[in-house]
Order: sequence, then C-alpha cells, then structure tokens
Amino acid sequence: MYMRLDKYLAAHLKLGSRKDVKKMIKDGRIAVNGKPAAVPETPVTPGTDMVCLDGAELKYREHVYIMLNKPKGYVSAVSDNFHKAVTELVPEEFKKFSLFPMGRLDIDTTGLLILTDDGALAHKLLSPGRHIPKTYEAELSESVTAEDIRLFRDGLLLEDGFKCRPAELVPHGERRALIVICEGKFHQVKRMFEAVGKIVTALRRIKMNGLELDESLAAGEARELTEEELDLLINGSMEDRT
Ligand code: URA
Repeated sequence: MYMRLDKYLAAHLKLGSRKDVKKMIKDGRIAVNGKPAAVPETPVTPGTDMVCLDGAELKYREHVYIMLNKPKGYVSAVSDNFHKAVTELVPEEFKKFSLFPMGRLDIDTTGLLILTDDGALAHKLLSPGRHIPKTYEAELSESVTAEDIRLFRDGLLLEDGFKCRPAELVPHGERRALIVICEGKFHQVKRMFEAVGKIVTALRRIKMNGLELDESLAAGEARELTEEELDLLINGSMEDRT
C-alpha cells in the first residue's frame, strides 16, 4: 500500500508536522530509494521503499517495543497524578510514540516491563486465556519449604477464595526463590507467599514468556527489543515450543 511521502514522514515516522516534513523535502534532505524526493506527493510503500533523511535511513516500524528495567518508585501507568510513571523512563527518541506498559508491576516491584504502542499484541498476550509464564525472583521473610513447593504446584487458594493455577517454586538461596506463574492477578506473587505465611520483601520480574530481562540494563534504563526478543516474547523460547 503506497501513500504520500509527507504523510508517511509526519504520521508514521513522526518526524515532525506536515509543514516541517514538507520543508525537509523542499530542502532536498529526503531521498527515496537513493534519489532526492522532489515533491511531498511522491508515493512510497512503507517497509519496501528506502527513505533517508540527510543520508541516514529512516527505519519503518509499525509498532515500538521497549524493554525497561523498572526501578522502584514508578507506577505501571501512562501517567499518574501522585507518582512517577514508567513512561517517563522511555528514551527521548521514543517519547513521540503513544507507549503504554504491557501489564503491571507494583510500584515497589522491579525488573522486566515492556512498553509498547501495540494494543492488539498487549491484548493477545495479556488475555486471561493465554497464560503466558512470567518468572519472578523473590526475597522472602523465611526460606521456602518442601510443603510450600507442593502447595504452589497444586494450585494455592488465596485469602479471597481465588484458586491459583499451578505455579513453579524453586528455592534460590536462603530466603530467596524463583517463582513462575501463568496468570497475573493483583499482587499475585505477594499474596501467594502470604498464603503460606511468608512476606515478600523484594520482587523482581526476570522473564516473560521466552524473553529474559537484559541484565546489562541498569535500573531505570530502557532500550528497544530486537526482532528475536520480540519473537521470544510472543512465541516463547524454542524449548517452550517443543
Ligand atoms: N505479583 C506481585 O505481587 N506484584 C507484582 O508486581 C507482580 C506480581
């Protein structure tokens, strides 16, 4: 599907207003397939034609997917009247996209959070029937017991009567554990540990489906997902698929 170059630059690549991009074209700064574009009406096919600004290729992306290593103190929201919102941590170049967090982490939970403008994917991955696995590292008031592992595996009953799906609990050092859950009720991990008499003193998400947190990202840092990482988020890892 082709469209006018000025519309593509302004509405899709968000390079500026229609007026701004018309000026860029007029100034000879925009090239399509290696040739300077003469007029704003030049037809382009997004994803097929190579469009450059000052010689640098403008990569077409239908949607943006950002991995954030969420620090404490930020709410998983687009904006908030009382707290800092995770969208404030998005690198400047992505601020022009209407990004929102895919799912929620509590204000004091850290780790892997995806921000995107792809509502259809968020809906697909977070829909209750999908059950994508999410892995958390928890620091606890007490070490986990063999009985806790069994209770988590069999499906815990929370204080409000909610029966959890089976979850994997793996001790990970003294008063630490890894937990894999396939649902995402409000404060779920904290409430699951509460149900076995333990308090979560720190919680960090390290994996969603096949996508692992990039440990080289400092708390508060964010970067775009690679295509391979996006595939791992959507489809899980090869082991998960077999
Ligand atoms: N479970 C919780 O209790 N908190 C989170 O932030 C995520 C999962």
